[in-house]
Amino acid sequence: MNTERLKEVLAQARSEAGKVIIGQHDVIEKALIAIFTGNHALVEGVPGVAKTLLVRTLARVLGADFARIQFTPDLMPADITGTNVFNLQRNEFSLIKGPIFTSFLLADEINRAPAKTQSALLQGMQERVVTIDRETHPLPPNFTVFATQNPIEYEGTYPLPEAQKDRFMLKITMKTPDRAEELVLAQRTMTKDAPETVLAQGAVQPVIKAEDLAALRESMTAIVMREELVGYLVDIIRATRQQESILVGAGPRATQALIMGARARAALSGRDFVTPDDIKEMTPPVLEHRLILRPEFEIEGLTVAEVIQQILQQIAVPR
Ligand SMILES: Nc1ncnc2c1ncn2[C@@H]1O[C@H](COP(=O)(O)OP(=O)(O)OP(=O)(O)O)[C@@H](O)[C@H]1O
Ligand SMILES: [Mg+2]
Repeated sequence: MNTERLKEVLAQARSEAGKVIIGQHDVIEKALIAIFTGNHALVEGVPGVAKTLLVRTLARVLGADFARIQFTPDLMPADITGTNVFNLQRNEFSLIKGPIFTSFLLADEINRAPAKTQSALLQGMQERVVTIDRETHPLPPNFTVFATQNPIEYEGTYPLPEAQKDRFMLKITMKTPDRAEELVLAQRTMTKDAPETVLAQGAVQPVIKAEDLAALRESMTAIVMREELVGYLVDIIRATRQQESILVGAGPRATQALIMGARARAALSGRDFVTPDDIKEMTPPVLEHRLILRPEFEIEGLTVAEVIQQILQQIAVPR
């Protein structure tokens, strides 16, 4: 299968998104990786770092539709999935589809809704169907969830259970802009080139039709990974289960996520083959949200990020 088109579209998508989003290059890259591998992403960042703008921009760039759900303590599963409503004129029930029936879904502050409501979303993510009154309905082919977690107000929140975090391919961490980027944002805000305005006025054009995304995703399988590198990758995941400091290591979903992530990163770099760097770079975002430290190590101040670096140093890179 030919990967030229895939690489071209990825490059165009990145540059179109860059017309709106200032900096955040690795964030745009990781979001594209989740989309082009048919996965979902957790997005973390303090208020105002452009989490919403990022997803809206990518939807425009890839010709996909977009919806946002604000999770709150009183949000019900049906508020996400939809309900059957009796139609008096037609004398029958008809389905009013909920906001989950979209391509790019921003699930904002997912940890503010109780478990039952979270599961409605998670079923959709995993099975790509939604069950309403015992009937299943398929979700759109490009269904991709970007879920944010409120990192500040832990009071009264329902943190995602570990088993459910595993369903997210990767975690995207959005940092606050550095000074130079913030200056650009400040300057542009004073002109007609403010990020929101650029998006609203249609200066950003879709680089493909949403229907073509599926075929491009398939061509990702043509990105090759040498056997030694597959072994290297598997050893990284397996090492998480042997670390003294880790209570729960990564499961096999992490192996699959890392394979997909490494390949997509290769394609984003314009290559048809995976390098050890692709694997190393994708390891932290794929693993960070899946690993749990033993409390005694956490108390000592060790972080999951540090353990991941230790693992990467332990395992010899194949030549
Ligand atoms: N890197 C950036 N590039 C372009 N615009 C930015 C950037 N960072 C912040 N902004 C601007 O900051 C504002 C806030 O963005 P947005 O609403 O997307 O943030 P958010 O992370 O979703 O916030 P919240 O957590 O409150 O929902 C927007 O007007 C956006 O234009
Ligand atoms: Mg927002």
